[in-house]
Amino acid sequence: MTTAGPVRARLILIGAPGAGKTRLGKRIARLLRIGFVDTDKRIVAEHGPIAQIFEEHGEAHFRTLEREAVAGALREAAVVSLGGGAVLDADTQADLAGQHVALLTVSAEAVAARIGGDKRPLLKGGIPAWSALVESRRELYESLASRVWDTSTRALDDIAGDIADWVRQDTTSPDTVEADAAKEHTARIESGQKEQQQ
Ligand code: S3P
Repeated sequence: MTTAGPVRARLILIGAPGAGKTRLGKRIARLLRIGFVDTDKRIVAEHGPIAQIFEEHGEAHFRTLEREAVAGALREAAVVSLGGGAVLDADTQADLAGQHVALLTVSAEAVAARIGGDKRPLLKGGIPAWSALVESRRELYESLASRVWDTSTRALDDIAGDIADWVRQDTTSPDTVEADAAKEHTARIESGQKEQQQ
């Protein structure tokens, strides 16, 4: 996995736990027909359950593993959903500058239904813990975001459509041009192959 070089992610989703980063990210990636990476999933696949990493090695160790996963994910031309605290890392903050960064927000009332019985280690204290976490990060989240979407009440499919449109509108990005050219090239080869088969 490459962890150096330019950031190639087409869209980066940030925000508090329970804001819908994973669910929306999957939908948006489908709309944009590109890959989806959830950095928490990558960490779990490589190192085991997050709760266990916190318990056995502490939060600082988790953040080191998280930065590795984030650095790799951001170098893929995909929709990337970051764990809620990934933005605390200074290198990740630098990576996010100038990118399509969507902040997802959610009200405490709406998130209450989503995080009940949750295993996330920083949410053991329920909604009060969640609210304190969000409040302590609010300014940071806002400073890194290029656009903000609230997921408390609107249908996720509608929000996903809006975000995908926003990403698509920026056709001047070199990555977009590169990706479009690659897609056209593949389509030309495929149609040529079909013609030959006929
Ligand atoms: C965390 C959020 C979690 C996960 C870990 C720490 C945080 O990700 O990375 O439990 O510090 O906010 P989600 O935001 O996907 O729940």
